[in-house]
Amino acid sequence: MWKPPERIKYETAVAQWPTAEAAKRSQLYSSLSAPNLDLAQRTWVPAMVPWRASDNGDVTQDVIDWYARFAAGKPGAIVVEATGIRDIPSGPLLRISDDRYVAGLRRLVNAVREASAGQTRLLIQLIDFLAIRRRPQPDAFFNRFLEITAFHRRQLGMERESELAIRAHLLTLTDAELEHVLSPRELDALRQGYRERVTDMHLPAIAELPVTLPALFSQAATRAQAAGFDGIELHYAHAYTMASFLSATNTRADGYGGSREQRVRLPLEVYAAVRAAVGADYTVGCRFLSDEIIATGSDAEDACFFATEFARAGMDFLSLSRGGKFDDAKQPKVGWAAYPYTGQSGYECMPSYLSDAQGPWGRNSEPVGRIRAVVRAAGYETPIISTGGIHSFYQAEALLEEGKADVVGLARQALADPDWFEKVRLGRGDEVLLCRYSNYCEGLDQKHKQVTCELWDRTALDEPGVVLASDRKRRLIAPAWVSGETAI
Ligand SMILES: Cc1cc2nc3c(=O)[nH]c(=O)nc-3n(C[C@H](O)[C@H](O)[C@H](O)COP(=O)(O)O)c2cc1C
Ligand code: SF4
Repeated sequence: MWKPPERIKYETAVAQWPTAEAAKRSQLYSSLSAPNLDLAQRTWVPAMVPWRASDNGDVTQDVIDWYARFAAGKPGAIVVEATGIRDIPSGPLLRISDDRYVAGLRRLVNAVREASAGQTRLLIQLIDFLAIRRRPQPDAFFNRFLEITAFHRRQLGMERESELAIRAHLLTLTDAELEHVLSPRELDALRQGYRERVTDMHLPAIAELPVTLPALFSQAATRAQAAGFDGIELHYAHAYTMASFLSATNTRADGYGGSREQRVRLPLEVYAAVRAAVGADYTVGCRFLSDEIIATGSDAEDACFFATEFARAGMDFLSLSRGGKFDDAKQPKVGWAAYPYTGQSGYECMPSYLSDAQGPWGRNSEPVGRIRAVVRAAGYETPIISTGGIHSFYQAEALLEEGKADVVGLARQALADPDWFEKVRLGRGDEVLLCRYSNYCEGLDQKHKQVTCELWDRTALDEPGVVLASDRKRRLIAPAWVSGETAI
């Protein structure tokens, strides 16, 4: 992953935790009663893909155990990982693309209800993504994938040669020479792996996204409702289809790209279709970016505009992330696919302990505070969820006190210690296992390996009933919280 050149090393430490009394009086542990969003406390575990679904995208016992473990900590809400809405093979990514998935998802909902004693609201993140291929071997690229065009022939001065001869010649060219022969997209496919864009209007399936996506999202939303989820988070963030529509890089000329008004059109139409399908009383919100952190991308001003439009449309919450784009992703190794968290935008999404003068904590807090202020100034009370490097009670409480958020998200800190919420509530904050922001978990995610945390995945491997990862070296879920002699 990209790291700030300063490479200042930070160590997570918390000087003070609240007493149980102070926690009880706090805003963080106060309830939220917003239209369609009632939380017992203002804490939120944002979506994190743990790579535990079956190869067909079904809920497995490992998926259930993963969420039940978070639920045992009783946060205000948990958002289930990005879940695919298309009925296409997507590896061990959870899916909600057909009615056959509903029964498994219902088991997941029930397990979370039981483990949290009904305290935690459970939402599911709905994702659409476009095709992406692995970085090819150059000979495979030139011999099989590249379509030879008149442009290549002209650039090479090989108008009359056979295709075979052209392909063989291309293989001998240097990088610099190839830049004169291949189009930017072809070069990108060679260097990073082929990837579809929302601007690929020559592809009928891409041109028709404004027609197909509202139905795909709304059908998935209906299934989520049938499975018993408390609500839906539309994934409009990071490197995926809906975020690409919002992006300033979206130059579609069909009324769904260009100006901000046109870029937000499909996200609003998807929301309208979902709302029509699930009814006025069901929780529907979205996750989007406070800033794309790429040179020609959307910035905080765009995010303020989108937030106001989403609030005006009636979304029940807005959850803000940051960065995480393909546009600045590092070149993957041959045979690997590009990963959108390897460039600077990826760093801003999941900052690590090697950082700059600002440090890895709370980098999203100020931008989200500005977005919240704009939404409030426009007259909307839509709850705003702020996430990014939050690990201490007073850090979270300050965001609420200063009006920078209504709910605070803890992703990696909740993975490091799913009992954070209960420990802090009970005045036992000094027992919290603090996230180091090492991004060991993110490295596992990148390789599509079962995600665990380095702070606990080698602990008590011989404990009765412990379930190990497929590499047999790591436990899959955090050990139970043992305080003194008592497991809690
Ligand atoms: C292993 C892992 C998987 C993630 N998967 C998702 C995801 O499915 N959807 C999403 O919106 N964000 C995802 N994220 C990003 C987190 O939700 C969160 O925004 C990010 O980690 C920053 O918050 P933090 O500093 O509290 O960890 C993932 C993060 C990690 C570490
Ligand atoms: S592996 Fe654990 S300590 Fe490291 S960033 Fe992930 S959650 Fe935090």
